[in-house]
Order: sequence, then C-alpha cells, then structure tokens
Amino acid sequence: MANETARSGYGNIGPVILLGPPGAGKGTQAKQIAARYGIPQISTGDLLRDEVARGTSLGLHAKAIMDRGGLVPDELLYGMVAERLRQADCRRGFILDGFPRTAAQAGWLDAFLEKEFFDKSQMCSPVVIQLVVDYTQLLLRLTGRRSCPTDGRLYNIHFQPPRAAGLCDVDGTPLIIRDDYREEVVTARLAAYEARTKPVVEYYRAQGRLVPMNGDQPAADVTAQIFGVIDSHRSNCKPVAE
Ligand code: AP5
Ligand code: MG
Repeated sequence: MANETARSGYGNIGPVILLGPPGAGKGTQAKQIAARYGIPQISTGDLLRDEVARGTSLGLHAKAIMDRGGLVPDELLYGMVAERLRQADCRRGFILDGFPRTAAQAGWLDAFLEKEFFDKSQMCSPVVIQLVVDYTQLLLRLTGRRSCPTDGRLYNIHFQPPRAAGLCDVDGTPLIIRDDYREEVVTARLAAYEARTKPVVEYYRAQGRLVPMNGDQPAADVTAQIFGVIDSHRSNCKPVAE
C-alpha cells in the first residue's frame, strides 16, 4: 500500500534523469527518489548485469566491455531500455540512473519519449539532475568500495571501513572487490565518462533543462536538494490519466 500512498500523494512526476560520473551517487539517490515518489529506478548498469547473470546474448556481449570499463554500444541498449519504459509502473514517471550516457542515447531518448509518452499522455517533461563530484573524491569512493559476497553489505575502506580489516562486520566473510571497481577499470570508466557522457551534460544544458548539484556533500543533503527540485518541477505538471 506504500506505493498507493505515493501514487495518490505525488501524482505525475515524469522522467527524472540522473547524470554524473561513476561513483557520483546516482544509485544512492535514485533509491531515495523511488521510495519517496513511488516511481521505479531504472539503472542500465543493473539491467545489463541482470542480462549477464542470465547469460543472454546481450549479456555475453556486454560482459567483456563492462569488465574493462567501456561503454556497451548504443544500439544494444535501446531495445532493453524501451522494453523497460513501456512497463505499466513507468506511467507516472521513472528515474533513469546511468542512461543516457552518450549524445546518441540522449537523442534516442527524446525521440522515444516524444513518440511513446508525450503524444499519448500529459506526462511531465524530464527533469535532469547532474551530480558534480571531483575526480579525487570519485577515485576514493570507487577504489575504496568493498562488499560482502554473503549479505551484499557495502563498505568503503576510506569512509566506512569494516571493524576488522577485510572482513564483514556481520558474518566475518572476506570482503571482495567487484570486477569493475578494480583501480585500472575505475580509471577506464571515468575516462569513458569524460569522453562520451560529458557531451550529454552539454546536450541538456543547451536545452535549458540541466540542474547541476554539488554531489560532494552528505548523501542526505543531496537527497533533500533533489526532492526540492522535483517538487517544484512537478507542481507545473498536469495529472496523468489513470
Ligand atoms: P553502472 O552500474 O551505471 O555504474 P556507474 O555509473 O559506472 O557507477 P556506479 O554505479 O558505481 O556509480 P553511482 O553514481 O551509481 O554511485 P553509487 O550511488 O553506487 O554501469 C556499469 C557499466 O555498465 C558501465 O561501466 C558500462 O559498461 C555499462 N553501462 C551502463 N549503462 C550504460 C549505458 N547507458 N550505455 C553504455 N554502457 C552502459 O555510489 C558510489 C559509492 O559512493 C558508494 O559506495 C556510495 O555509498 C558512496 N556515496 C554515494 N553518495 C555519497 C555521498 N554523498 N558522500 C559519500 N559517499 C557517497
Ligand atoms: Mg550505480
């Protein structure tokens, strides 16, 4: 029923696009937005990891690219993203976490939304939030990340270390580093962001939609600012017909 409350309480939200480099906090913030407004988090990284886990042909193709920190080719993303956005839970809005990541993806998304959403409903226009975090901080966040393979608990050796070095606080399991958090892969992911995703920032800036935000402050403070942006944006939106 929590979803129903969110439904009636917040109405039409529209697309919320979170831009920012790896480690900027897109996933962290997307979860808070999803919980407050009752709209789904759509992380292309999670969708791709799911394809990898299921051993689909897309997953097999994507895995090697993801493992070395590159970007999966645009045309492999479109069918997967379109299928997800057409699901009923996206009607009032959705959070895009990690998409679009190239200028071509941004153009594709605009065309898709125009054709499949804005023609047929009165969905709110997208709100685009850019989380800005400096390079050194990103490196510490990403290279310091450790996880427990048993319970999924996350640690960071710089900011949130386990009580005993290298071991999970809860069950003592040795902590692991996910493949794409190894230092050389992190550097490649950050380079891909600079080369391929920065143009997306410019794309939305040129449209007057970009809302830059300092992501280098406590996560709860970032969340509060994001809620403020979404609340003022949605106050201009019409209700979506159920
Ligand atoms: P994806 O899964 O999207 O990963 P990413 O964006 O590269 O990086 P993260 O998920 O690590 O960063 P995040 O911004 O979500 O930060 P988080 O909240 O976790 O993509 C993985 C791969 O899939 C890509 O490399 C690519 O190959 C492929 N892919 C995905 N989408 C694609 C696309 N559209 N096109 C082509 N290829 C695609 O936070 C990070 C850490 O920081 C956490 O430990 C967190 O606790 C901490 N943290 C968060 N906020 C704060 C804060 N305010 N203060 C201190 N610490 C914080
Ligand atoms: Mg993420």
